[in-house]
Amino acid sequence: MKKLFISAFSVACVLSSLSSCGKTENADSTNTANSVCNATAENQVYSIDTLVADSIILPAAQTTGGTPIYDALSARATFRNFTPDALSDQTISNLLWSASGVNRPSADDPRLTAPTARNAQEIDIYVCTKKAVYLYQPVGHKLKLVNTGDFRAQAGKNPFHANASVDLIYVANYDKMEGFDDNGKAFYGATDSGIISQNVYLFCAAENLKTCVCGHIDREEIAKFINLKNGYVTLTQPVGK
Ligand SMILES: Cc1cc2nc3c(=O)[nH]c(=O)nc-3n(C[C@H](O)[C@H](O)[C@H](O)COP(=O)(O)O)c2cc1C
Repeated sequence: MKKLFISAFSVACVLSSLSSCGKTENADSTNTANSVCNATAENQVYSIDTLVADSIILPAAQTTGGTPIYDALSARATFRNFTPDALSDQTISNLLWSASGVNRPSADDPRLTAPTARNAQEIDIYVCTKKAVYLYQPVGHKLKLVNTGDFRAQAGKNPFHANASVDLIYVANYDKMEGFDDNGKAFYGATDSGIISQNVYLFCAAENLKTCVCGHIDREEIAKFINLKNGYVTLTQPVGK
């Protein structure tokens, strides 16, 4: 069973490599996009953690099985003591799909694991790693580079942000909320971010990971390093071991 998983994962990496590898600009010289192709379960190289690439196609997320929902609800809690251990590429993939990935694929009406007001799908999730900041793109299950460098410490005012494996940043993207008035943008942007945050809490509870959703953050500073043009940084959420 384990071998099957390994080979399926390796095939996924090779397929990913055909479309994502080699498309690097600003690539870190020691961790080029080809690193993602080496992210097999065989050698346990955790590459997204240290990779800088324009575009990363995540391994297919696990979308069935796992910890029973009542067990996850029973274990759900806030933790603030992160260790330096990295998350595997597969875990990052599963985390982002759980947060707000496509669970009902469709060419013209893809739906997500998190509900949004009027199906605006307006919450953008940015992922701060040790090396870069990426925007998660649910359709295609991809990461798009938005900045290089380690911005984890700036993802929140609490010191533990710097120690998490990844820091997620939730942004209400106002380009996707044109039909909402200002109150609606604020209310639904916050509400929809909170729902994603709980998805992440339950994922972490199910996977024995640590997380803490945070509103004690410097929104202006975050907006700068993610190059935010039209939106509001709602919450951030470090995730790690
Ligand atoms: C909207 C929101 C914002 C929060 N902001 C922070 C924060 O900035 N820093 C922090 O340490 N915890 C933050 N928390 C976590 C709460 O302190 C935590 O959920 C609460 O103490 C209850 O603990 P529990 O999650 O383990 O049940 C936040 C929680 C929510 C829902």
